[in-house]
Amino acid sequence: MKTSRIPGFYTQTISQRLDSLAQACGLSQEELSTFQHLAGLSLDQANYMVENAIGTFSLPLGLGLNFIINGREVVVPMAIEEPSVVAGASFMAKLARSTGGFVANTTPPEMIGQMQLLDINNLAAARTALLEHKDELLQEAGQIDPVLNKLGGGARNLEIRSIESSPIGPFLVIHLIYDVRDAMGANAVNTACERLAPRIEALTGGRVHLRILSNLADRRLARASCTIPPTELAFDAYSGEQVRDGIIEAWAFAVSDPYRATTHNKGIMNGVDAVVIATGNDWRAIEAGAHAYAAHSGRYTSLSTWGKDDDGNLAGSLEMPMAVGIVGGATRVNPAAITALKLMQVTSAAQLAEIIVSVGLAQNLAALRALATEGIQRGHMTLHARQVAIAAGASGAAIEKISAQLVAEKSVRIDRAEEILKGMLSNHD
Ligand code: MEV
Repeated sequence: MKTSRIPGFYTQTISQRLDSLAQACGLSQEELSTFQHLAGLSLDQANYMVENAIGTFSLPLGLGLNFIINGREVVVPMAIEEPSVVAGASFMAKLARSTGGFVANTTPPEMIGQMQLLDINNLAAARTALLEHKDELLQEAGQIDPVLNKLGGGARNLEIRSIESSPIGPFLVIHLIYDVRDAMGANAVNTACERLAPRIEALTGGRVHLRILSNLADRRLARASCTIPPTELAFDAYSGEQVRDGIIEAWAFAVSDPYRATTHNKGIMNGVDAVVIATGNDWRAIEAGAHAYAAHSGRYTSLSTWGKDDDGNLAGSLEMPMAVGIVGGATRVNPAAITALKLMQVTSAAQLAEIIVSVGLAQNLAALRALATEGIQRGHMTLHARQVAIAAGASGAAIEKISAQLVAEKSVRIDRAEEILKGMLSNHD
């Protein structure tokens, strides 16, 4: 990818956009056609993926433009139904370009498998027995996936936690820490936990009840940061300093109030989920991990941080669990997900995680910038008006005409759209 800046992309038709994209990224038209409905996930493939399949379900796929992440130009496929998200991320990525874009990194891809150990009389003795046999247990867990071991992954550690009080009394929880490399990891970790259970029961005399991955992937974190000079933030009558300080004030609201933090983090997830979905990953896992991580201090708060650096620039960062894979599961079945990874030239799960968290940060900035200045509705209005026009039955050129009128009248309502459409049709007759 020479550049992720494709000026005027927004104004092109879909087929012109595919041409521009093919030129910019070097993928063939045929490969890019997997993003089109009929060439994407086939019914046969869907039938293998879930039970009782009767079809597939589509979402719009937009391109997040202008991203530079760790010095690399990236265009980011985003699957999302909500207007303004793709435009917001692309616009903020453009502002971040002046300082080199986003810097991102990840911790090792270590997932946690949980085993619930019940029916033990002496928690301390059970703990000691497990720790004495830790090496043997890790070796056993490591045998489930020789390919993963070859790639440098595998079982890393066993940690024992005591749950002192619960509705059924105290019990032990054993955490198996497992490096899953480029996989999301649920299969490897669940298999390893199931494999260890009988030996753990033999060693402790207890009963291993649940054996399952934890979605609070707090050892597998992705972080992104960016710096935006005030000159990039200024627009209309707003000075750059005003916008910067307004964003910091908005962030302080999210830090201090869970009601606001939930919405603030939802805005981050608008960007995160869109890329997670476009790459065939498990967005429920990412959502669950994100919100649990947002509460890891004991109080639910903002996942991102915004402040002012020594030079007066707006400085933002985002840290969150990011259990995504590029091998296995839907990432390798859905042709559109395969093309999405190719388009971003992603070669590791860590690289994908770095892109996702950068998009999340850009998305958060887009929302805060709008909220701290003119409000969210103006940007939303035009695209929303188009959806309302379509829902009212408009097609072709009528969509633009009706949506423009709805926006001009500041009344983006379906009954009004139906009325305008009716008027247009009767004028035709
Ligand atoms: C809407 O999908 C997302 C926002 O509510 C996020 C926010 O309030 O920060 C605009």
